[in-house]
Amino acid sequence: MAVLTWNHACVVGVRAMDNQHALLMDAANDLRLAWMRGSGHKKVGELMRLLMELARMHFRNEEQLMEQAGFPGLAAHCGEHQRLLRRFEEAARHAETGENVPLHAQLCAVSNALLAHFEGMDRDYGPWMNARGLD
Ligand SMILES: [Fe+2]
Ligand SMILES: [Fe+2]
Repeated sequence: MAVLTWNHACVVGVRAMDNQHALLMDAANDLRLAWMRGSGHKKVGELMRLLMELARMHFRNEEQLMEQAGFPGLAAHCGEHQRLLRRFEEAARHAETGENVPLHAQLCAVSNALLAHFEGMDRDYGPWMNARGLD
């Protein structure tokens, strides 16, 4: 797993969302650290589930914001959030149960998918929000 570092490519331009993204990156990095230190499945599973719950709260906030602002890409964006949450759920379950799956690869994939979402789809709504006085 790579460390997720804050950089200009993931700035959305809506302060509340950027702050929540930073918290999620911290949670993903905590998960990475636990893995690197050889923490057990229980601990890794807990941190994966924490990341998932934080993401769920953030997605809900973001969807409310997009809805309030009448953002046209809302439905597609919600669909992507749901896909990400399903992947998180699967990774958390695998970590908790210690199932014989390539967990490290799965954690990497989840972490990378989250960052790619911030840098991709999330940045798409920034200008729309900014144009409506949300920043
Ligand atoms: Fe999003
Ligand atoms: Fe987001």
